[in-house]
Amino acid sequence: MPVATLNWENDCLRMIDQTRLPEELVHIDCKDVETTAEAIQSLRVRGAPAIGVAAAYGVVIAAQEALSKTDFDAHVRNGIDQLSKTRPTAVNLFWALNRQTAILDQTKGQSPEEIRNHLLKEAHRIFEEDKKVCREIGKNGAALLSQETTVLTHCNAGSLATVDYGTALAVVYAAVEQGKQVAVFADETRPLLQGSRLTAWELQQSGVDVTVICDNMAGTVLRSKNVDSVIVGADRIAANGDVANKIGTYGLAILAREHQVPFYVAAPLSTLDMDLASGDQIPIEERAPEEITCGLGKQTTPEGVPVYNPAFDVTPNTLVTAIITEKGIARNPYGEIFQAWFA
Ligand code: MRU
Repeated sequence: MPVATLNWENDCLRMIDQTRLPEELVHIDCKDVETTAEAIQSLRVRGAPAIGVAAAYGVVIAAQEALSKTDFDAHVRNGIDQLSKTRPTAVNLFWALNRQTAILDQTKGQSPEEIRNHLLKEAHRIFEEDKKVCREIGKNGAALLSQETTVLTHCNAGSLATVDYGTALAVVYAAVEQGKQVAVFADETRPLLQGSRLTAWELQQSGVDVTVICDNMAGTVLRSKNVDSVIVGADRIAANGDVANKIGTYGLAILAREHQVPFYVAAPLSTLDMDLASGDQIPIEERAPEEITCGLGKQTTPEGVPVYNPAFDVTPNTLVTAIITEKGIARNPYGEIFQAWFA
């Protein structure tokens, strides 16, 4: 059974501190907005859907803090603002915060306690929806995999990136549950190693066959190891099907095309941003140079050398074989089918 990433317990948000994996499995409790925002910003909780769920509970935490303040509404909205500044690329963050803002707007005039309870109900709804949606994604995607198959994935789009089942790895989990034999190659995913630290950890916990490779080995593996599909998650998908995901995804998509391996993206509809016509408009987070220069616990770059550290890249829709969602599977041209799903 895949792991539970986060839970609401005793009026606070309890989550696995993913920065400590795979060395130790420890949890942290977020009792104030500051701690919740820091947890999102520093990737203690990460992965687009999990960020959305954590932010939804972060608003409840803001409301709890505000119960003792004179201006309840302003304090909660400040909390929403603070949470919205943590990570710019994963649209699920803004999607979840917009849902909580709508609750605030709809409950104006009610008591602070009542409003806090409505916000908690909405956060629980977002949590439960994520569980359900990920299982649908898994079921839809598993149909694309044959009885014996090898998958290559990048970063972590597994249970640790959602409430408990994943998106790209949901496809793997569902296929395994159907009795299929699935072997996974996990890209290490520099600079923060979500592939080797997290994907390898959760697949090992679940008894799924996993082999870690450095990112620069993907070409050789695609050429020589009978990989049947590449499956990744997404942080934001534009209306035309361009996909923002962890840095390195774009290069992997080009390699997959060169080796005629299907390149699948698995994501919930909450990751689709129908307000953006193309991937050019997706904001790409840039992170601290130290993640590259000292990411492995020792200085690996000479002092003073400039570093460019974009956390995500955009894969054009032409390189994406299909997008697997809870509603079904979309293929290029994506625009029409997305419109129909949102109609
Ligand atoms: O920086 P991260 O670890 O939050 O990046 C995560 C990814 O890029 C995932 O592939 C994406 O969020 C999809 S998670 C289901």
